[in-house]
Amino acid sequence: MENTTTENKKRVFSAIKPTGNPTLGNYLGAMKYWGGMADEYDCLYSVADLHAITVSIEPKELRENTKRLFALLIAVGIDPEKNILFVQSHVRSHAEMCWLLNNYTMFGEARRMTQFKEKSEKAPENVNVGLFDYPVLMAADILLYQTDIVPVGDDQVQHVELCRNIAERFNNRYSPTFAMPKAQVTTTGARIYSLLDPTAKMGKSDSNDGGSVYILDTPDDIMRKFKRAVTDCDTKVKAAKDKPGITNLLNIYAAATGVTVAQAEKEFENSDYASFKMRVGEAAVEVLRPVREKYEALRRDDNALLEIMKSGAEKAERAARKTLEKAYKKIGFVRL
Ligand code: TYM
Repeated sequence: MENTTTENKKRVFSAIKPTGNPTLGNYLGAMKYWGGMADEYDCLYSVADLHAITVSIEPKELRENTKRLFALLIAVGIDPEKNILFVQSHVRSHAEMCWLLNNYTMFGEARRMTQFKEKSEKAPENVNVGLFDYPVLMAADILLYQTDIVPVGDDQVQHVELCRNIAERFNNRYSPTFAMPKAQVTTTGARIYSLLDPTAKMGKSDSNDGGSVYILDTPDDIMRKFKRAVTDCDTKVKAAKDKPGITNLLNIYAAATGVTVAQAEKEFENSDYASFKMRVGEAAVEVLRPVREKYEALRRDDNALLEIMKSGAEKAERAARKTLEKAYKKIGFVRL
């Protein structure tokens, strides 16, 4: 945290839930960019385990997923020495701040959240209050660190907008307390779709494994999935509204190799679909290979991983406490 005051860098915060198996969509839409931001910004990243229990999850799975995701974040390039990397439940201020912010969030605005509606429909037997409160906990995550920039995929933008409303309401009611955060969405990887149903988001918890490419998939698995990816009845490798399969594959290729979609279209103007799909698969394999190798090395020593978690949590708690205390005082709580 020290460098905020000395260097006046802008603050970045983002997080990812340890539910399901992290996908190429999570990687290209979010995680890929996080490691590289540390030179320019003061960055915090979190494994949002408190968010993970809003859907039904087995204890063993939550534990393993949390460790896996934490190691993966290091493997994608987040250096724990240059960033504050931590597990959300290790920093108690998040749950406390969530309770405070609940009282500055209107039921009506929370009810409008698309993800709440979608998840309620998906699991009607478990529409719990935590699921409803989910975006408020997210607002707590963001506002605790006086965040300026929140790098996220497309689907989280509405939640960041809600967070801004809550911050504004609180700041207006008392006096400026929270920085006003802004969502930052990447241009190419912001929404990666399923390879088998290119109208649905590629999701961590999708039951249909063939549609989602996982970050830790083997090269063989990745190639097999791309080979089976749906295309369309046309033959041109071109992005278009009525060609969601090809558009998605072009997006994946562009995000994985760092070219624009237009450049990718040019590169494949004489290709047939089968060879195009192979090339996209190879690009995904190459972008994920070093991540998987680094991940495997990190998972050989879980005790070392826990030490990194501990040190990250201590740094995060120190920063979070400052804002939390400020909020308590403004509201009128007696502090000791
Ligand atoms: P989560 O865990 O669902 O996803 C983590 C990040 O990955 C992005 N993402 C995608 N991007 C492109 N294509 C896809 N198919 C795709 N799927 C997921 C998401 O947009 C996200 O950026 N609520 C958050 C976690 C969170 C958070 C926060 C984020 C908790 N607190 C505070 C920002 C700030 C979530 O569930 O992300």
